[in-house]
Amino acid sequence: MSISKCKVIDLPRVADARGNLTFIEGHNHIPFGIKRVYYLYDVPGGSDRGEHAHRNLHQFIVCMSGSFDVHLDDGQKNKRIHLNRSYFGLYVCPMIWRYLDNFSSGAVCMVLASENYDESDYIRDREVFLKEIATL
Ligand code: TYD
Repeated sequence: MSISKCKVIDLPRVADARGNLTFIEGHNHIPFGIKRVYYLYDVPGGSDRGEHAHRNLHQFIVCMSGSFDVHLDDGQKNKRIHLNRSYFGLYVCPMIWRYLDNFSSGAVCMVLASENYDESDYIRDREVFLKEIATL
């Protein structure tokens, strides 16, 4: 799994004077089916979230309000993506170390996930991540 598979995806926008509308269909606008949705909110300034990788989980991260940064790392390359609009999001493939920081006041981070919550899918130790990715 390489960081080059992680990409910002533009979402459909139905512009309307009454308010704009965006939608996301699994296997259509994003490259996986959606089994779970969760969101981060009321994040205190200076907080970091994430600091882990997933063995099998695909995720799509959307900034619904405010802004934040997502840092990605595949063990060889890393990049930072600033998310600040609800009409695009970041696809994160499995086996990518990630953390989120630089949350603005009022930021809401919505994550679409390909699987239900499963703690055994997490790699929370970076040394373990680097060992596992070296065997792929
Ligand atoms: P976690 O994914 O570890 O967040 P972070 O890496 O940003 O700290 O989740 C924090 C806690 O929330 C963890 O104890 C498990 C729980 N949790 C669920 O119960 N279901 C979920 O879908 C998620 C994402 C987390």
